Amino acid sequence: MAKARQKSKAKPSSTKNKLTESQIAVHWKEEEYLRPSKKFIAQANLADPAFVKKFDEKHFPECFDLYASLLDWDKPWRKTLDSSNPPFWKWFVGGKLNACYNCVDRHLAKYKNKAALIFVPEPESEPAAVITYQELYKRVNEVAAMLRDFAGLKTGDRVTIHMPMIPELPITMLACARLGIVHSVVFGGFSGEACGLRAADSGSRVLIYADGYHRNGKWVDHKASADIAVHTATKEGQPIEKVLIWQRYPGRFTSDAPVVANRDFFVNDVLKNYRGQTVEPVSQDAEAPLFLMYTSGTTGKPKGCQHRTGGYLAYVTGTAKYYQDIHPEDVYWCMADIGWITGHSYIVYGPMALGATSVLYEGVPQYPDAGRPWRIAERLDVNIFHTSPTAIRMLRKAGFHEPKIYNYHFKHMTTVGEPIEPEVWKWYYEVVGKSQAVIVDTWWQTETGGFLCTTKPALDPMKPGSAGPAALGIYPVIWDEEGKEVKAGSGHAGNICIRNPWPGIMQTIWGDPQRFVTQYYKKYNKNPKSKNWRDWPYYAADGAMLPADGYYRILGRVDDVINVAGHRLGTKEVESACLTIGEIAEAAVVPAVDEVKGRVPVVYISLKPGVPSTKAIQDKVISTIETMIGKIARPKTIHIVPDMPKTRSGKIMRRVLAAISNHMDTGDITTLANPDIVEQIRELVQGRNATPLKEGPEDIKRFGEEA
Ligand code: WT7
Repeated sequence: MAKARQKSKAKPSSTKNKLTESQIAVHWKEEEYLRPSKKFIAQANLADPAFVKKFDEKHFPECFDLYASLLDWDKPWRKTLDSSNPPFWKWFVGGKLNACYNCVDRHLAKYKNKAALIFVPEPESEPAAVITYQELYKRVNEVAAMLRDFAGLKTGDRVTIHMPMIPELPITMLACARLGIVHSVVFGGFSGEACGLRAADSGSRVLIYADGYHRNGKWVDHKASADIAVHTATKEGQPIEKVLIWQRYPGRFTSDAPVVANRDFFVNDVLKNYRGQTVEPVSQDAEAPLFLMYTSGTTGKPKGCQHRTGGYLAYVTGTAKYYQDIHPEDVYWCMADIGWITGHSYIVYGPMALGATSVLYEGVPQYPDAGRPWRIAERLDVNIFHTSPTAIRMLRKAGFHEPKIYNYHFKHMTTVGEPIEPEVWKWYYEVVGKSQAVIVDTWWQTETGGFLCTTKPALDPMKPGSAGPAALGIYPVIWDEEGKEVKAGSGHAGNICIRNPWPGIMQTIWGDPQRFVTQYYKKYNKNPKSKNWRDWPYYAADGAMLPADGYYRILGRVDDVINVAGHRLGTKEVESACLTIGEIAEAAVVPAVDEVKGRVPVVYISLKPGVPSTKAIQDKVISTIETMIGKIARPKTIHIVPDMPKTRSGKIMRRVLAAISNHMDTGDITTLANPDIVEQIRELVQGRNATPLKEGPEDIKRFGEEA
């Protein structure tokens, strides 16, 4: 087995972003490589080094024709990339296609009787439901007919979908895609208010809901959130005409919320009028938007990442095929939620464009016990598995030996969303994968559509804790704050950027092209007038290191975003929610390291003069955050402090609070307007007998720097 070539040199460094390899190695040493099995290589979609060569930089951008050619086009593209108006790229110019046709219709000839989706309800007493491609075709068509003729939706309209993990969710998405309706799926764990704000931002007239669902052994009454969403959207100036409600148990309304006449409709009832109807897939321009996915950024307002039809579908199909090694014969299970980009790209669009069987699980992994995922894998004979480090950590903690009990065999496993600790990676490899499955650690973002860094499963050795080399056709670079390249093997960390455009990159931020430019392209652009794509590197807002072997190690966000259990949380959104509480004067939200979830939000608040510090205020903070954002943003702790550490210009020093919450060195605080407060807060948070200082992770050290 090859040894990692990079040897760390102990060299102390002074500045924050010049962290040496050895300093990082305190927590995370360079790991040995592992290689895929001969059996895996023999059947892999990508085992030919000649294919890799086709993506050499000299073949950019036409190399991506290899991805686009995996799809069926109504009209071929004239030009692979039009980069004449940076950074608003156009991919597969002149081409026309339909995403739903590519995910459904085109598989009928060969695979109509094959499982497209296998739905696994959370209650183990309910059997799995198989939907074949033929059945999917029928159901998608009927829903498309209903969206068009009953809801009055047409190509280009936006619709907001707030649904749990039930098959009706991908069915609704594909029905939208069939008509060119731009879907915006809001993760089920967001509140009605959060959904309403997103619906208003996207200009949706129609909301699509489910009445309820099972989660962690409980029944979630979801319809109630629709009423709040409608109310919020209306308040924002966006009236909602119709709420279409899927019943989790067709024919039975399982919510306590009222049904509003002439606004709320049960899909199951309405669909009866559309039985057997078919709808021609609308031939869409490659650049027509396919969907919006809202994500958190550095401001309080989530942004709608707008993804294009042709480039996006080509990119997720290509990456699902070559990196996840999906064949139509495979049973593929991604445990993510479709409400996040992972689910869009690698539960729905990528796998389904490839004609795979995609498993959909309603519930949480550890329900009713930590053996559940492995029972599902055994029962359905899943052979490709995909999940997040948080889920892996959780299952490892709750059931270390559980996978051994079940007779399943994965050939391939993906991890996504957060850095994975080598110990956790090794458990995933040895225990979950039974030392047989190849692992890809895929680094990417909501904005990027698909994988940016990952190993090629049959060709590149695996290295625990590293995302790996750049994906085909992606040319990353790491720059320091001054724009100087941080070279491979230098032992320093910097900001990872992608030098070139690629087909999966979002088109723009919905309704805010200026923010798109500023957020992602301004930082390292030297000439805003340049028409050359080479002057427009994509800024990912992640810290990274590159050892000499070319395997990128992602260190985490460098902006005001924290990664909670693989989900992005904007700290500004949480702070804004706190500030709606009358008693609160100031709020600051910082990340704290958590053994299972990676990072969790910790809230600091100071109260207006004369307001007593009570438990009631803390409860109010929690309920406000849950109402305005959702349960996923629930803070771990709330500290009521006498004052915030501030600069002389009055800026809250979130970096200092983050250091305190993580028992790290607070750094130089002499320049603060109120340095004495730091010790007070430290005592309040850590107690009198504080634990010794720790060398913390890079993202926490840099937290709040950008603000
Ligand atoms: C952020 C993006 C990618 C889809 C799910 C999350 C972090 C993502 C990895 C990885 C280390 C990772 C980054 C990134 N991240 N994948 N393999 N190793 N960090 O999408 O919600 O847009 O979050 O997740 O910090 O910026 P997202």
